[in-house]
Amino acid sequence: MLLDLGRFFRRFADVEAPNSPLYQSICRAVADAPDVAGMLNVAPEMERRPNLLLAAVHDILLEQRQGKIRSPAERALRPFYPTISAQPIPPGEEAGAAFVEFCRTARGELEALIATRTTQTNEVGRSSLLWPVLSALSHDVDGVRLVEVGASAGLNLLLDRWAYCDAEDRPLPGGDPMSPVRLRTRHLGARPGDSTLKIASRVGLDRSPIDVTDSDAARWLLACMWPDELDRFRRTEAAVALAAQTPPRLIRGDAVADLGLVTAGATDGHLTIVTTWMLTYLEPAARSAFVAALDGLGAQSDLTWVIAESPMYSPELPWPEGSSERSPKGETLLVEVRYRDGARTVRTHARAHPHGRWIDWIAT
Ligand SMILES: C[S@@+](CC[C@H](N)C(=O)[O-])C[C@H]1O[C@@H](n2cnc3c(N)ncnc32)[C@H](O)[C@@H]1O
Repeated sequence: MLLDLGRFFRRFADVEAPNSPLYQSICRAVADAPDVAGMLNVAPEMERRPNLLLAAVHDILLEQRQGKIRSPAERALRPFYPTISAQPIPPGEEAGAAFVEFCRTARGELEALIATRTTQTNEVGRSSLLWPVLSALSHDVDGVRLVEVGASAGLNLLLDRWAYCDAEDRPLPGGDPMSPVRLRTRHLGARPGDSTLKIASRVGLDRSPIDVTDSDAARWLLACMWPDELDRFRRTEAAVALAAQTPPRLIRGDAVADLGLVTAGATDGHLTIVTTWMLTYLEPAARSAFVAALDGLGAQSDLTWVIAESPMYSPELPWPEGSSERSPKGETLLVEVRYRDGARTVRTHARAHPHGRWIDWIAT
């Protein structure tokens, strides 16, 4: 079925990209260029979203960052990208025109990416939510056996490799204070935990895991980020480089059907499952099945599940009463579900920005 792709780009410019002047001007131009918007038709129908074309172009530009410029159209487009150019040109209509022209000259290369890739993200800022809760938990258990479901590149499995800072960049307890990856967060209320976290083992499960040692895959992860969010881009780039030195163990599989691959067997430490902005991608029935699977495991042995998701997008999770009121606009809630001696208790720790820019800790 042919979709009205121009409408998708117009909507993206008007509704989804208010903080990205570059992508706003690009998407307005693509909305009026059906031959360019139509490049998305080589992707499966579910994947035909503006982000895929935007990422494909960004990927080609990133690949050529240090190399030679291959066409006048590429030369014209590069200066608008803050991730490519040290002194980017403020975007206007010219940015959109340059993008459209570039797509027309690089059609074959772009369609090859669009046909085979899906957009993928991994937000290392979410470690700022996880460290305090896992650190506090590790005082009660003998080592955390960390399992992230929907781990992407597994960056948040490496939460002890980043430096944690407050909004003024002053160090906070935890992680590696000397790390080149500095996570800056405005903390409201009392941040739990301290500088200790004993991780006995760690593994991630994902239906499309990203191998940070594969340069094409790692670049695609960066290409899916928006070029105007330069701080976030640089932070992820540094985290990927650090992760590549000792990559996390990742297993390809489905969150529900293959959960046993990461939960069964091992006895090294307290089973601690983490899901951050993953369950929202599942169908409601699959989310319910995921909860039922953890309830089943928790009935048999002690475990902890740390959730950073939104009750608006994942209503089937075991949210404490009042969660929807706490997150009226779909804000992230950080919730800890403890299974002890067969009983389940649930506690909300915080309300937070989805990338951990601010965290509002809730006293109990
Ligand atoms: C928005 S990303 C979040 C990644 C990571 N948790 C984070 O916070 O940065 C969602 C991840 O969930 C994965 N995912 C989506 N559906 C899945 C499923 N059914 N089984 C396993 N992984 C899934 C995607 O591949 C992607 O890596």
